[in-house]
Amino acid sequence: MAIYSKEEIFPNLGDKIFGTSFLPHSLPKYKFPKQETEPNAAYQLVHDELLLDGNSRQNLATFCQTWVEPQIQKLMEECLGKNLIDKDEYPQTAELESRCVHMLSDLWNSPDAANSRGCSTTGSSEAAMLGGLAMKNKWRKKRQEAGKPANKPNLICGLVHTCWPMFARYFDVELRQIPCEPQRLLMSPEEVIKRCDENTIGVVPTLGATYTLQYEPVHKVAVALDDLEEERGLDIPMHVDAASGGFIAPFIHPSVVWDFRIPRVKSINASGHKFGLAPLGCGWIVWRGSHDLPEELIFNVKYLGGGMRIFALNFSRPAGPIAAQYYNFVRLGREGYARITQGCADVAAWFADQLRKLEVFEIIHDGRKGIPGCTWTIKRGEHPGFTLYDLANQLRLKGWQVPAYPLPANRGDVVVQRVLMRLGVSRDLAGLLMEDLQRAIKQLQKNPPAKSLTRTIASGYNHS
Ligand SMILES: Cc1ncc(COP(=O)(O)O)c(C=O)c1O
Repeated sequence: MAIYSKEEIFPNLGDKIFGTSFLPHSLPKYKFPKQETEPNAAYQLVHDELLLDGNSRQNLATFCQTWVEPQIQKLMEECLGKNLIDKDEYPQTAELESRCVHMLSDLWNSPDAANSRGCSTTGSSEAAMLGGLAMKNKWRKKRQEAGKPANKPNLICGLVHTCWPMFARYFDVELRQIPCEPQRLLMSPEEVIKRCDENTIGVVPTLGATYTLQYEPVHKVAVALDDLEEERGLDIPMHVDAASGGFIAPFIHPSVVWDFRIPRVKSINASGHKFGLAPLGCGWIVWRGSHDLPEELIFNVKYLGGGMRIFALNFSRPAGPIAAQYYNFVRLGREGYARITQGCADVAAWFADQLRKLEVFEIIHDGRKGIPGCTWTIKRGEHPGFTLYDLANQLRLKGWQVPAYPLPANRGDVVVQRVLMRLGVSRDLAGLLMEDLQRAIKQLQKNPPAKSLTRTIASGYNHS
């Protein structure tokens, strides 16, 4: 649909019929264009290309926010010219960032929230890198002080997001990843302890595993590490990857003990742009105390007439997501977040119950105890005549993005499918998806795919 009239696009060029002068031309793709293009025409062409993307509201693969209040859109626009790193020029934005850090320390039960250390990041991936670097640095210093070699650091984790293998590879750390087994998808205290040694820089449980949406047993792992310290003198810190769970558990699962209430938890990351409800480009990391973030990692930068202390992988960054995050904290408070999150969890539980009734699927996660969402697989021994990849493709015809993917080692034989119920995925929208899913199953059973899709031709999905 045209969003500009021909007069607006080509006021002086006599383009009598919409687009006649620009539609016959294709956009420059590989060579830097020689000439300029009229802005409305360029806009229309780029706008039209973007139509080919999926509809983000129907993207149930992503954890990230795809609906925001109009006030957030306004704040984002107002911050368009502000660079978060220019703390001297935009001191109030810096102040909002600092307030958010303290508020998060309070939310995550820091013993000293007013003096905590932390910062915003572009997302949980950058926060994970910073958390990993702090653990590596602290471990190295301790080893050097004890006169011991410090060249073989390792990190223990379970079903982690790709950002942790990235951290391990980029920063030369051996990743001791606990594979899942037929009866155990998450990390267990026993499996963690088996892998610990004097070179372990930390253990990273995930509060809301990317693959299954379940919480890993942070508290049980911490207790096992306490016992290990008592028995073998190894004092191993924990970092919790609470990319999604950090904005869920405090509001709707208060009895889950996973945060700074556990003394061994030294740092936590979360994605503001996931269940923190901020727009894309917002993550957080908070350290338990100032001594948990090594001073050597902080850069004192003199820039544009001011001095600032930074620990980040990026320099320039948009300020809008941070202002929007602070808006959310003020706007919603604990009660508002709890209402929204519980609403998402209720929709997820309803969806899981409907799926269960179809008697084809085994529900791995029904949204009641972890991240609001649902993960399922085809029941063992069931041969419905289609694969979950076929189902994902059939749903795609109606615009729904519901990924199917294999679990990692040692359960790569199990293919699962997953939906996330975020703010904006109403019970009504979930109901429409369920109707389409049932229709898709009927369609696939009536016209079985000539060759059911397998992972090799239907993959290409990334978790975000
Ligand atoms: C557990 C976990 N950690 C880290 C990430 C990466 O987060 P971000 O996309 O904010 O960088 C994700 C993304 O889904 C995740 O689920």
